[in-house]
Amino acid sequence: MEPAFESATRLFGGSMMSPIPDPYPVYRQLRRDRPVVMLDGQLGRVALISRYDDVAAALKDSAVFSARGNARGIGMVMGRTILEMEGAEHLRQRRLVTPAFSPRTLREGLDVVVENVIERLVDGFAGDGKADLVSQLTFTFPLRVMAHVMALPIDDFDQFHHWAIDLLSIADDPQRGFDAAAKIVDYLRPILEERRRDPGSDLISTLLHADVEGERLTEEEVLSFLRLLLPAGAETTYRLTGSLLHALLTHPEAHDEVRSDPAGLDRAIEETLRWEAAVQYVSRETTRAVEVAETTIGPNELVMLAIGSANRDGAHFEDPDRFVLGRRSVGDHLAFGFGEHFCLGSNLARLEARTAVRILFDRLPNLRLAPDADCRIVGLAFRSPDRLPVVFG
Ligand code: HEM
Repeated sequence: MEPAFESATRLFGGSMMSPIPDPYPVYRQLRRDRPVVMLDGQLGRVALISRYDDVAAALKDSAVFSARGNARGIGMVMGRTILEMEGAEHLRQRRLVTPAFSPRTLREGLDVVVENVIERLVDGFAGDGKADLVSQLTFTFPLRVMAHVMALPIDDFDQFHHWAIDLLSIADDPQRGFDAAAKIVDYLRPILEERRRDPGSDLISTLLHADVEGERLTEEEVLSFLRLLLPAGAETTYRLTGSLLHALLTHPEAHDEVRSDPAGLDRAIEETLRWEAAVQYVSRETTRAVEVAETTIGPNELVMLAIGSANRDGAHFEDPDRFVLGRRSVGDHLAFGFGEHFCLGSNLARLEARTAVRILFDRLPNLRLAPDADCRIVGLAFRSPDRLPVVFG
């Protein structure tokens, strides 16, 4: 078997949720020798595309690389969501939900919500001189923010968090994913009824009453959108924040720069998004046969666009495996996707990561990794550190 193909087959032979420490050497090999490789994955036959230019071009070309590919993965549990919609239907839904995520909405109060959630969690360990920042902070705060934004009772939080995580087990344990999806719907339906009758200023009320030129979302549309926001809130921002902290605590120069220049933190966030993309793949389905990097992909093939590999492509980023602040190509990464389906929560994710690091650096003097800390950034479909033992004071 050819080496690049063999390495890729081995990498994708197990669970997509495996805690793989370093997939990047395989991506480097693929970009060089097999920029399009056909694999037999858990979702069936799939074409994996690994070079930056090819991934970006496919994200731009929604006529050939249709987002309906998302229906074969995460869409199985989420129901029909914006992620898999195309053309006019996608545009309609996007126009209805976008105002809820605009920078203006974020400025009007959300920053305070994020701050309060993080301050309260830091209160819980600030006096201890040590903490695991993953289990005690990054893992829970983004979902707590979503619970606030949706005005869901905080008492239900643990249950809610379990469902959010179970939703993502679809590839490994479909039944668990389906059960979680059903429970989330059962839980949310009466809340929707109540907010329809008596709307507040929360996200659920905003979505139920959003009206663009007479168009409104149906109840089913609101339910699947909310179901999508759970993993979006639980699984992504926590990973970005963990990888950002990991990067700063293991790169002293970047750490100093962030402490001495507030704009340095924004540069560090963009570099983390590039260096360790929290979401490593997005799915597409070809609408016709197409040639990519001299390889023909047939019609109706499932395609995996390897964002994590594209962001480490040496043909696009100089010295791509290094974490460097102030790259010329800052903001040029594909971590939030690109084109029509560009992440709606990117501003919220940046706000959350920025607030968490700012508060930690303000409140915990001399914050550093614990001397015997054994922590790495791991994962295949999603990546972040599994723990971050730190000491301070
Ligand atoms: C670091 C954090 C995040 C990362 C890395 C991330 C990544 C992504 C990516 C790659 C896509 C494109 C999917 C595709 O093209 O198929 C996407 C779409 C989306 N994201 Fe995020 N996301 C993050 C945070 C969030 C948050 C916090 C929210 C909301 C609370 C959110 C909501 C969405 C939605 C609604 C879409 C679908 C947009 C559409 O299909 O038009 N994301 N995200």
